[in-house]
Amino acid sequence: MIEIMDTITLIKANLRTKFMGRELHVLSETTSTQDIAKELAEKKTPEGTAVIAERQKAGRGRLGRSWFSPQGGLAVSIVLYPALPVLNLLPAISSLAVLNTLEKFEIKSSIKWPNDVLIGGKKVCGILIENSIDAGHLKYTILGIGLNINFDVARFPQIAEIATSMSLILGRTVPIGLVATHLFSELEDLYLRSSEVDEILEQWAGNMDTIGQRIRVSTGNEIIEGTAMSISETGNLVIQLNDGTLREILAGDVTILKK
Ligand code: BTN
Repeated sequence: MIEIMDTITLIKANLRTKFMGRELHVLSETTSTQDIAKELAEKKTPEGTAVIAERQKAGRGRLGRSWFSPQGGLAVSIVLYPALPVLNLLPAISSLAVLNTLEKFEIKSSIKWPNDVLIGGKKVCGILIENSIDAGHLKYTILGIGLNINFDVARFPQIAEIATSMSLILGRTVPIGLVATHLFSELEDLYLRSSEVDEILEQWAGNMDTIGQRIRVSTGNEIIEGTAMSISETGNLVIQLNDGTLREILAGDVTILKK
């Protein structure tokens, strides 16, 4: 409970954004912050409304997976009402905002397409973008970000081998409220610059470990192997298959294959 009060106090004292994180709901425990943010979006809460939970009992990830969300992590969901072209850019905007936030703590990270953030090849952050569409019209988007901050992944066998955390890298704990404040600010900056499509996609691709690597992509329907070549102008991953043909992937889970 003390930690959560610190988080609220730090955000309120330091936040300088116009709208991102301005309406803030902080909970000690919930099922998934995505659900609470959705309820607020249905009531037309202002853009940038954020829901933070200290722990989630049913945190969810991409492609139907669950997201492990113990105390010491930042679990945040943000309500957005983006125009359609901006929606396509959200994986780039959100993963770059996390990368820039980590840089504020002198941590160098990279992006694994589409929007995982890794440190030294291990996952420190996952991002889930859920849209509500009504009669072909985008009602709202919930941008969910899960960042491993102050816990030792080695204590949790289910993620010990594949994940890392900020405290593990820095050898000290980091105030979660400070991380959240930087994240809201980086997100707002990039979101407001979303007309600069080429620059954002260029930065995104430039920070991606995936390009140039032999990869396997699981799309849910099929598994595709090839070499990751580039990012298309709509943010898709372009792969060269083993027979030389090029293929664009819209969504999937990438594994980098050993050379
Ligand atoms: C992934 O890597 O598969 C995406 C993980 C997204 C986790 C975040 S934590 C905050 C928000 N609430 C959830 O239930 N999921 C997202």
